[in-house]
Amino acid sequence: MTPSHTPPQKSDALRDAASGVPIVEPIIVPIVELSSIALTLESGAGEVNILRGIDLKVAPGERIGVVGPSGSGKSTMMMIAAGLERPSSGLVRIAGQDLAEMDEDDLALFRRDRIGIVFQSFHLVPTMTALENVAVPLEFAGRRDAFDRAAAALDEVDLSHRSTHYPGQLSGGEQQRVALARAVATEPDLLLADEPTGNLDGETGTAVIHLLFAMQERIGATLLLITHDPDLTARCGRVVRMKDGRITDGGMPS
Ligand SMILES: Nc1ncnc2c1ncn2[C@@H]1O[C@H](COP(=O)(O)OP(=O)(O)OP(=O)(O)O)[C@@H](O)[C@H]1O
Ligand SMILES: [Mg+2]
Repeated sequence: MTPSHTPPQKSDALRDAASGVPIVEPIIVPIVELSSIALTLESGAGEVNILRGIDLKVAPGERIGVVGPSGSGKSTMMMIAAGLERPSSGLVRIAGQDLAEMDEDDLALFRRDRIGIVFQSFHLVPTMTALENVAVPLEFAGRRDAFDRAAAALDEVDLSHRSTHYPGQLSGGEQQRVALARAVATEPDLLLADEPTGNLDGETGTAVIHLLFAMQERIGATLLLITHDPDLTARCGRVVRMKDGRITDGGMPS
């Protein structure tokens, strides 16, 4: 065989194995990318500018605390990142995908597979047991082992003994742990939590956050956590501050 005339390469680790093209810098696709997001709604009294130009980039695995006064737009920004609300203008990319290119059905599938959401008021289905609440999204995702996975997720939040209980038979903290198990069981890229401890007493809330952070780390998800609690923001890698529909600090990775 004719010897290859490829010049010796200094470091194979810096070249793509298949093409030999040098890799200069790994390209990291942000999990959340909001660009110039505005949301204007019509009300009886005229137009209301709810978001006024939001720029936010979040890298994979980051843990972000979102803070700001009541009415500053925190929940609205999160709804837009979840594809539950469409902005009036601007770009929303989640895990590299432009949400504007998806119709409502695509968005529902995308959310099911890639995003886990936890709300202040739990949002469990009251007519389903704890186990069913966790298993249903897995079943929709076509997981054959939906109920086994759901049982494992309930075990992770220490609620195996409550799996046949209905939400109305569970305490607030237990309901939120079921909601956490449901959000994490599909191993989403992005976890969104809107004041998840807002309806819980201090000790119960601490236990829920401990679980949330532990599960985020286990699955390697990115977390956006809206909170008014400074102890929680202290445990986030970055704090995004909002005021009057704008991000005033922390929108970009440092
Ligand atoms: N569907 C809607 N129609 C009209 N105004 C709305 C609507 N949704 C939200 N708003 C307004 O948008 C602003 C931002 O609301 P948002 O719920 O995002 O605030 P927030 O920062 O999450 O506040 P909080 O800390 O109280 O939860 C508020 O002034 C709110 O009244
Ligand atoms: Mg809110």
